[in-house]
Order: sequence, then C-alpha cells, then structure tokens
Amino acid sequence: VIRTWVRDEAVRAHSPLPARDPRPFHERLPGYLASELVAMPELAAVTGVRSVHLKHEVERFGLPAFKMLGASWAVYRLLEQHVGRDLSAEWHQVDDLRSLVAERREVTLTTATDGNHGRAVARVAALLGFRAHVFVPVGTAAARVAAIEAEAAAVTVVPGDYDEAVRVAAATAATNVWVVSDTSWPSYEDVPAWITEGYATLFLECDEQLDSLRARQPSVVLVPVGVGSLAAAAALHYVRPGRPAPRLLAVEPIGADCLAQSLSAGRPVSVPGPHPSSMAGLNCGTPSDIAWPILRDTISGAVVLDDDPVEQAMRLLAREGLVAGETGAASLGALLAVAASADESMRLTLGLGPDADVLLLCTEGATDPANYERVVGATPAEVASRRQRPPATRTGAAGAAADRAG
Ligand SMILES: Cc1ncc(COP(=O)(O)O)c(C=O)c1O
Repeated sequence: VIRTWVRDEAVRAHSPLPARDPRPFHERLPGYLASELVAMPELAAVTGVRSVHLKHEVERFGLPAFKMLGASWAVYRLLEQHVGRDLSAEWHQVDDLRSLVAERREVTLTTATDGNHGRAVARVAALLGFRAHVFVPVGTAAARVAAIEAEAAAVTVVPGDYDEAVRVAAATAATNVWVVSDTSWPSYEDVPAWITEGYATLFLECDEQLDSLRARQPSVVLVPVGVGSLAAAAALHYVRPGRPAPRLLAVEPIGADCLAQSLSAGRPVSVPGPHPSSMAGLNCGTPSDIAWPILRDTISGAVVLDDDPVEQAMRLLAREGLVAGETGAASLGALLAVAASADESMRLTLGLGPDADVLLLCTEGATDPANYERVVGATPAEVASRRQRPPATRTGAAGAAADRAG
C-alpha cells in the first residue's frame, strides 16, 4: 500500500438519483446474463477476513468489462430525451428499438475513454445503427485501440491525458453528434447520471446472488475508481438512509489518485497526467462533478496502490482460472496489500479485520492481452480453460421468465 485515507466522521446517505430501474432494459438487450459472483473462502483465510466474494465482470454483452451497463442505459435515456417520450412500452427486442430510431441514422455517438467505456459506446452505436467516434489519450495500448476500431468506430488519439481526451470529445457536440461521457462537468450532467444509474444492475445482481448463496451482505466493498461514476453507483445502492451501510473503500493507482487527494483536501482536486499506472481504466485525473459530492459523503476509506500488488492479484486469480486485467484486479490488489501490511490498526480502521465480509468488484477481463501474458505467464484463454464456469445465471424478471419457460 502506498497510501490510505480513512474518514473520521460518519457517512451521510444521498437519495438515489431520480431513479428508474435499468434492469428491465438490460434484460431486453441481446446476451444479457448476470455476471458471476465467486465465493473465495481460501482468499478470505489468507487475507484474514471472514468472507470474500468477487463480482467477476469479465463479460457483459460480449465485452470484457462492466461498462456496457452504463453506456447502453445512458444512450437509451438520451434517445428518449431526443424523441421526447418514454419508449419502454414500444419495443421488445433491440431490432424493434433500431426500427424506432431509424430516422436518426445520421447520429454519431462520441466519447473519451481509456478503453472500456469507449468500446461499450461503440458497441451500443452499432446496435442502434449509429456511428461512433472515440477519443483516447496518447499511450493507450494498441490492443485497446484495435478493440474499439473492431466495433466499427473511428478512433482519434489525443496528444494528452484522459482529461484532455474528455475536453476534445466534448468539443465535438453538435445536433447529430451526441456526447456520451461517463464523467461530468458543469452543465453536462444528465448522461453521466444515467451511466451511474445503469451500473445499478450490477449491484442488484450482487444482492440477489449473495442471498441465493445464503451469504452475508458485505460489510466492506472495494471499488476501483477512475472518475468515480461506478463508486457513486455503489454509494447510491449501499448507503441509504435508515439502514446500516457497508464501508465503501475506493481503490486508485498512485499518480492518478484524484479521489483520495480530493477526500483528503475536502474539495475536488485534479492530478495532472501523465498517468503511468498499468491500471488504465483508473488513470483519470479529475473526479466527475456529479460523483464528487456523493463520494465526499459516502466513501469510508481509500487505498492508493502501485502496480505490484495488482500484478500479484492477477496471478492469484489466474491460479483459480479467473481472468482479470490490470484494472479488474485492482480491488483484490488493495485487499492483498492491506492484508500484508504490518499496520494492524490501519487494517482495522479500514474495516478489514477478522469479522469483515468483503465484496471485491473485479471490473474487467484481459483488455491488454500482451501485458496480461507478461504478468501471468499464460494467455487469457489458457487461464480461462483452467476453470469450469458454472451454468450462467439470469437474475430478476427475465431470469424468472426464462425459468418458467424451462
Ligand atoms: C475496468 C474499469 N474498472 C473501473 C473503472 C472506474 O470507473 P469510474 O471511471 O466510473 O470510476 C473503469 C473506468 O474506465 C474501468 O474501465
């Protein structure tokens, strides 16, 4: 562990954003399946906590990260805003939706990304028959650029860091160019709020999966943080008025720890690039404008890491047949680093003592296969073949309907 921050006052609940449940929408998209929740008793024993569960976001709608949950819901809400009505009763399958928006074929979706979000936006654009233009910071791994291009998107490399790519993407906004950013700034709030709302599906699945495993709900949730939209979704889900909340611990890379620095300062702080960590999804220099006040009031602690414990976490997961990329392994890297620390009081103040029930959000698969192989010593396919994935589960209404249909 390079650095930790611990809140010294109680957390304060925020009411959910003007909420609509995104799950019925996600369940109608082709290929919806709940991502797996893996119980890891041996890891709990090794790290000195009571239980560990890992939400393994290695595949969402065919892409190796959780980001489709936010991008798809936000584009859908944006579409509804443009047509001026709630579309939910007007379609059953994505083909119906594509027909409904046929007259908007000239639309281009544009965004900045360090990989996963842009790829998800490109996939959504293709589903709806729109074009996509994605801006990436200089230094983005070639495999990540190629993966976005493979979604039929145009990719522009911006000579600067992630924040600069956001500025360049935002400047393209026009009547038929819709910006789908997962970070917000003054006057640009709707889309990032919908992205956060879309991530709710992941947490609803966790609740149900823990219940069906008869496991305890978490006392600590480790959340990887880039701009903080995912962490804000965790906060809106878990920190509610009038009920006990788990501690939310933010995990950030050294050199891009904008949230940890903001929490220490009590105001939003930018950490300019270059951001050299291999946790590319977390290499963001500024917390999202709308996420910040939520995170300021709800995050219990932060753990700032270098790449070493994260690479250790990738190898440990690989031994279990679980593929996790650098960003995906960050939450486990934080748990390993805290558990290995001689500072027991730090472990306890973070809530990671022997009675902790830990939920790790493992948010991506191997999005840079060459680096994955360097770190792990095997390809993602070799690692995945070490493990038999239990039959995929559908949760919620679609799951119940599928079960009834046999
Ligand atoms: C795989 C992965 N995990 C976590 C994050 C962090 O999410 P946020 O930027 O909403 O904090 C990202 C962001 O790009 C990501 O790609």
